[in-house]
Amino acid sequence: MSGEPTTQGRKAGNASHALEIAGRRLKPSTLMMGYGYDPRLSEGALKPPIFLTSTFVFESAAAGKRFFEGVTGQRPGGAEGLVYSRFNGPDQEILEGRLGVWEEAEDALSFSSGMAAISTVLLALVKPGDVIVHSSPLYAATETLIGRTLARFGVASCDFPAGAGPEEIEAAMRRAQAMGEIALVYLESPANPTNALVDLEAVKAARDRLAGPARPPIVIDNTFLGPLWAKPLRQGADMVVYSLTKYAGGHSDLVAGGALGSKALLEPIRALRNTIGTILDPHSSWMLLRSLETLELRMSRAGENAARVCAFLKDHPKVEQVGYLGFLDPASRQADIFRRHCAGAGSTFSLYLKGGEADAFAFLDALRIAKLAVSLGGTETLASHPASMTHLSVPGERKAQLGISDNLVRISIGVEDADDLIADLSQALDAV
Ligand SMILES: Cc1ncc(COP(=O)(O)O)c(C=O)c1O
Repeated sequence: MSGEPTTQGRKAGNASHALEIAGRRLKPSTLMMGYGYDPRLSEGALKPPIFLTSTFVFESAAAGKRFFEGVTGQRPGGAEGLVYSRFNGPDQEILEGRLGVWEEAEDALSFSSGMAAISTVLLALVKPGDVIVHSSPLYAATETLIGRTLARFGVASCDFPAGAGPEEIEAAMRRAQAMGEIALVYLESPANPTNALVDLEAVKAARDRLAGPARPPIVIDNTFLGPLWAKPLRQGADMVVYSLTKYAGGHSDLVAGGALGSKALLEPIRALRNTIGTILDPHSSWMLLRSLETLELRMSRAGENAARVCAFLKDHPKVEQVGYLGFLDPASRQADIFRRHCAGAGSTFSLYLKGGEADAFAFLDALRIAKLAVSLGGTETLASHPASMTHLSVPGERKAQLGISDNLVRISIGVEDADDLIADLSQALDAV
């Protein structure tokens, strides 16, 4: 049966990998039902089984040798077959193929959490004496990883505010260059909790103007808007990282991460993942495959719900301001970035109530449909109080700078009925 696929996932190169029919490029929402999976290799099962195995049997010693040459990097392109579940597995490979489809990425890697993805990417790209240029603020654990953990290993950092203009971005690059070799430019857009968008095209232009042969890769955390509302590889990012725990997983029942980009750029990251074991497990990979089938439905509905809910909140007498990407002043720089970079306003936003902590707490405690929990991107609506929860350890001055005030509530809208959500938020505002 030479030429016939023997392995599920991207290694198989089989007909179920077709990306187009009669010249028509198939949409990700179609491809999520079957891409990368061949039922003939799994007893005809319509859905991929969960491959609960720690290791894989080689057809021959020569095949084992060849696969290990890929795993150890002696042969580029990674393992040509399944080897050991710390390196790869069918569920992970099918998942990685499908993740790549959403962003038209050449390659993708799955990780045991968003932070496992980010840590593995950063560790693979830096060495002592290097500098990381980054937008600010970043997700708290990413800030800790760069500012404390990597700093202990002699990796410096230099930041610019998420909403910065081209001059400010370029000045940060020049500052960084004076400190050492820039290993990478790391972005998060929109920033949490300010929702400020990073001008990726301006960052790319500044990176491209850097003197010398070094063209440090631009890595961007696309957790908040991806993959439906933002596709940063199109605007010049070299790699996208994700907490798949959020919209991609979408049901608040798993923790996972991803990294997407070119094969060449992901190669050292795959090698480090092999070494330190930050790959996602088969069961969570399978759950993500299921989640991705409804990704577009879920995100579209959540986005529509958020637009309705925010329109209600905007003019409410107890609301000071709604930090929602759909409400940007059309003449502003942020709106210009939004038009160039985003296909939707998302479903996570900041609600500033009139008053202070007591008012925010009264509102949160009165919610009946929305759950009081941190995280975002799930089917259910969540609300939290950043100043006393996710950002509790941020110093007061920095909190003020980031707009993390006591009257701020962070809301992630789910896929419930929009009018039910409005009724819930309305009665909770009455309790303030
Ligand atoms: C923007 C962003 N990046 C990364 C992470 C970390 O992801 P995980 O919790 O899956 O490790 C989070 C988690 O909230 C996040 O919001």
